[in-house]
Amino acid sequence: MVSDDKDHVSVGFVGAGTLGRGLALALDGVGCNVVEVSSRSRSSADWIAERIDECVARDTAQEVADACDLVFITTPDAMIADVAASINWRSGQGATHCCGASSIELLDAAADAGAAVGAMHPFQTFAALSDPTEAARRLSGVTFAVAATGWLADYLPSLAERLDGQAITIPDELRPLYHASAVLACGYVGTLLDAAVGLWTRMGYAEEDGVRAVAPLARATIEAIAAAGPVNAVTGPAVRGDAATIAAHLSLLSEHAPHLLTLYRELTLASIPLARTKGVGEQELERLRRAAEAEA
Ligand SMILES: NC(=O)c1ccc[n+]([C@@H]2O[C@H](COP(=O)([O-])OP(=O)(O)OC[C@H]3O[C@@H](n4cnc5c(N)ncnc54)[C@H](OP(=O)(O)O)[C@@H]3O)[C@@H](O)[C@H]2O)c1
Repeated sequence: MVSDDKDHVSVGFVGAGTLGRGLALALDGVGCNVVEVSSRSRSSADWIAERIDECVARDTAQEVADACDLVFITTPDAMIADVAASINWRSGQGATHCCGASSIELLDAAADAGAAVGAMHPFQTFAALSDPTEAARRLSGVTFAVAATGWLADYLPSLAERLDGQAITIPDELRPLYHASAVLACGYVGTLLDAAVGLWTRMGYAEEDGVRAVAPLARATIEAIAAAGPVNAVTGPAVRGDAATIAAHLSLLSEHAPHLLTLYRELTLASIPLARTKGVGEQELERLRRAAEAEA
């Protein structure tokens, strides 16, 4: 490590997008020395530099790397390896990315030059923020998957702790499973809610009416799951073993939204283990399975 004191590690960012802005502000907020930033466009780098005292916007990634102990490469995933390969790294400095799907192999170019390398992925979304400072607030309390070599093996988990989060280690071979969990909890929840909102348009309402109806229900569901766990919090006909209601839903879906039939059937079938855990009997579960698989 360039600095012996972890409170004085100088941190830079290459890539000032949604995550880069949020992480830079969050780290500054917990006392880290965020001192340099560059991005593809100067205006994005300026955005961070204008909000963090002592932080300077640079034109190139190399300038950031030359001035910092630790560089976060927060470009889109597809650019990380190329950006890492474009930099002349110093032995002992740190390079880290925040991609969830891949581990530290994206930073082989930096490791080959003797840098400590890390992956620090926040299990959080930063989509659709009107104020990117909100991204910094969203980082507080989240789980970070950390993989690292050299001094970063201690330093990155300590950053997660300073952000009031928790660092976990995912074996590289299980990382796609970890990322699939993130996609189920985030992107596919979006797909599901889009389907729910779409049924409102088929009832003659505007999409915004659907969003207004669906969002509080979805929010309360997630809060209940966070408080009590899925077994206690999930409700609905499938986990009650109510095959008649499922059949009625499938019948109307086939008429008004046939593109959702497969999704609805699969979700009903996927709910059976949860229904069993909640105490629904085997006969009712069999009726449920038959209703889900019947021609609508
Ligand atoms: N967004 C999320 O919810 C989220 C959640 C967890 C992890 N992550 C991870 O965070 C990383 C960044 O994602 P993001 O969502 O923040 O992406 P983003 O909003 O698209 O921002 C990426 C930034 O990188 C800059 N950039 C692109 N190519 C570059 C290059 N060659 N050199 C320097 N800068 C370049 C972009 O340029 P401009 O200068 O033109 O703006 C942009 O500001 C990814 O690894 C992603 O997997 C994101």
